[in-house]
Amino acid sequence: MNFRPKILAILCNWCSYAGADLAGVSRFQYPPTTRVIRVMCSTRVEPSFVIKAFLKGVDGVLVGGCHLGDCHYVTGNYYTIGKMKIARKLLQYAGVNVERLRLEWISASEGEKFANVVTDFTKKLTELGPFKDELKNDLALKAAYYASLKPRIRILAAKEKMLTTQGNKYGEIYTEYEFDRIADEIVYDEINEEMIRILLQQKELTLEEISEKTGIDKNIVFLYVMDLIKRGEVEFKEKEGIFLFSHCKGEKS
Ligand code: FES
Repeated sequence: MNFRPKILAILCNWCSYAGADLAGVSRFQYPPTTRVIRVMCSTRVEPSFVIKAFLKGVDGVLVGGCHLGDCHYVTGNYYTIGKMKIARKLLQYAGVNVERLRLEWISASEGEKFANVVTDFTKKLTELGPFKDELKNDLALKAAYYASLKPRIRILAAKEKMLTTQGNKYGEIYTEYEFDRIADEIVYDEINEEMIRILLQQKELTLEEISEKTGIDKNIVFLYVMDLIKRGEVEFKEKEGIFLFSHCKGEKS
């Protein structure tokens, strides 16, 4: 009944932060639900920042930047769109309602808009309820965090604009649909692998147990585990006719 969501607002210095400041100076009323981090440009916000915020217990993340065309660094906020797109995919695969992440363009003169966005987002998050109640199991979210640090995901997030407008080094331009399809496959692949890695760092498991804990089909688990064995990350032993797999290194901190 008394739930008040916790929102992390990551705002760019030149527009959204100034907009938030103006909201305060102008005494626009909005709920005290946000904690603000100022960054020089919204493109500084990596998908990993967003996922870490959820792992730390926030109920929603608001990313604010200058309007398109007004970024202090010219095209920075176009890259923010790609980064938030990948962040949404990671969250979605981890079982998080993507409405908990919001991207808004708010200029320095839009104090009222900032107040309205926070009010509206607070209302939405209140309807959704506490994030910790939504998250039954944090394995996939932790995996999404580690996946977000992987080069494939970081390159994907940073190159979305380039791949869909200028093309790759062969001049091939991806449609939104093609980019989404490739991004979905990579996100799915990296999170699955990370879930298996996390589990095997904790204890020895059979393929059936990994499949049960991750929800990944046993035959697909087998392929991931074989790949990890080839890379020297996972080892196995036989015990009373059962194969047990474990990670060669210790648990991730
Ligand atoms: Fe505001 Fe880049 S400086 S989005």
